[in-house]
Amino acid sequence: MIFTQDPNNELNDILNSNSYSSVFVLADDNTKKHCLPLLNEAVLQKISGTLTVNAGEITKNIDTCIYLWNELNKRGADRHSLLINLGGGMITDLGGFVASTYKRGIHFLNLPTTMLAMIDAAIGGKNGINLGHMKNQVGVVNQPDELIVFPGFLKTLDRTNYLSGYAEALKHGLIKSKDAFQKTLNFANPDLESEQFLGFLRENMAIKEEIVSIDPYEKADRKALNFGHTIGHALEAISHKTGKPMLHGNAVAWGTIAELFISHKQHSLDITYLNQTTELVTKYFPEPVFTSEDVNDLMAIMQQDKKNFGKKIRFTLLRAPGKYVIDQIVSEKLIHESFKHLKSLCQS
Ligand SMILES: NC(=O)c1ccc[n+]([C@@H]2O[C@H](COP(=O)([O-])OP(=O)(O)OC[C@H]3O[C@@H](n4cnc5c(N)ncnc54)[C@H](O)[C@@H]3O)[C@@H](O)[C@H]2O)c1
Repeated sequence: MIFTQDPNNELNDILNSNSYSSVFVLADDNTKKHCLPLLNEAVLQKISGTLTVNAGEITKNIDTCIYLWNELNKRGADRHSLLINLGGGMITDLGGFVASTYKRGIHFLNLPTTMLAMIDAAIGGKNGINLGHMKNQVGVVNQPDELIVFPGFLKTLDRTNYLSGYAEALKHGLIKSKDAFQKTLNFANPDLESEQFLGFLRENMAIKEEIVSIDPYEKADRKALNFGHTIGHALEAISHKTGKPMLHGNAVAWGTIAELFISHKQHSLDITYLNQTTELVTKYFPEPVFTSEDVNDLMAIMQQDKKNFGKKIRFTLLRAPGKYVIDQIVSEKLIHESFKHLKSLCQS
C-alpha cells in the first residue's frame, strides 16, 4: 500500500516499470469530474481509455459488468492490461470484480477517492457486485496489484459521504482498542489537511490491513470487521424496500449502536462505549426509518445474512474495545430489544 500526497509520481513509476499492453481507468461520473483531472499529463498520456459508469450503488450489478467486459474487449484489453479503479467502494468493488474475471483476470490497481474506500473497501481484496437488492452476493477475493491512497481526493467529497466512511472508522476503533476508539471520536469534523487527520487515516487503514493479513478468507478474525453490520445491513436493506435508501455507513453507524447494546447485555461491555457512540451517532447520522411492524422483516433479512451458518444469525460482539467475540448467537428477544432501543433514540 502506498500513502502519498502526490499519486502522479507513484502512478508514473508503476506505469513505467511494468510493461502493460494497455491501461484503462474505471470511473463514475463524479470521480471522472473531480478526481481524474488531478492526474497529470505524464500519467494521462499513458492511459489508453477511460470507462465511465453512472455513480451510485445501483450501478454495481451484472449488467454493468457485461457492459465493461464488452468495452474492454472492444478496446483491445488483453491479459497484460491494467485497470485503474478510480472511485469509491462502488468502483473498487465493481472494477476489482470485472478485472478479476475478464480473460480470467487482468491487472488492477485501486485508487480510492472516498473515506470509505480508503479505509475499508479498497483494502483486503473483496470484490463483487449486488444481486438485485441483495448486497455483494457475487464476487471474488483477489488482491489488487497496488493500492494508492491520496487523501487529497477527499477535498471534493460531500459531508454525507465522509460520514458514511467515518462510521467504518468508528467500527475499526472499537474492534482495535480503547485508545483507537477514543481517538476516532475526534474526527467527525476533521481538518482534512491536518497532520492529525492524516495520521488518523493511516492508523485506521492499518487496522483493516492487519486484520485481513491475519485472515484474508474470513475464517475467524476478519469477522471482527462485521461488527455493527448484521443489524446495519438489515437497516440498509429495509431502507431500500421502503424507498428511503440509507447510505451504507449511515446504516452501519446505527447498527453499531444496536450491537453495542447487545454486547452490553450479553457480554457486559462497559456502557460508556454505548453512550459515547450513541451521543456521536445521534448527533451526526440521519435516523433509520422503521416501524415495529418492520421488525419481522428486519429479522428475515438477517436470517439471509451470508455470515450465518446452521440456520442461526451470527453476530460479532464486543466484551471490550479490542476484545471481540465472533459467531455469537443472540436470542430473538434481545435482538427485538435492540431494535426497541434504537427506536427509543429516534425522534420519528
Ligand atoms: N470490498 C469491501 O471490503 C467493502 C467494504 C465496505 C464497503 N464496500 C462497498 O463500498 C461501497 C460504498 O462505497 P462508497 O461509500 O465509497 O460509495 P460510492 O463509491 O458510491 O461513492 C459515494 C459517492 O461519492 C462520489 N464520489 C466518490 N469520490 C468522490 C470525490 N473524491 N469527490 C466527489 N465525489 C466523490 C461517488 O460518485 C458517489 O456518488 C458499497 O458498494 C459497499 O458494498 C466494500
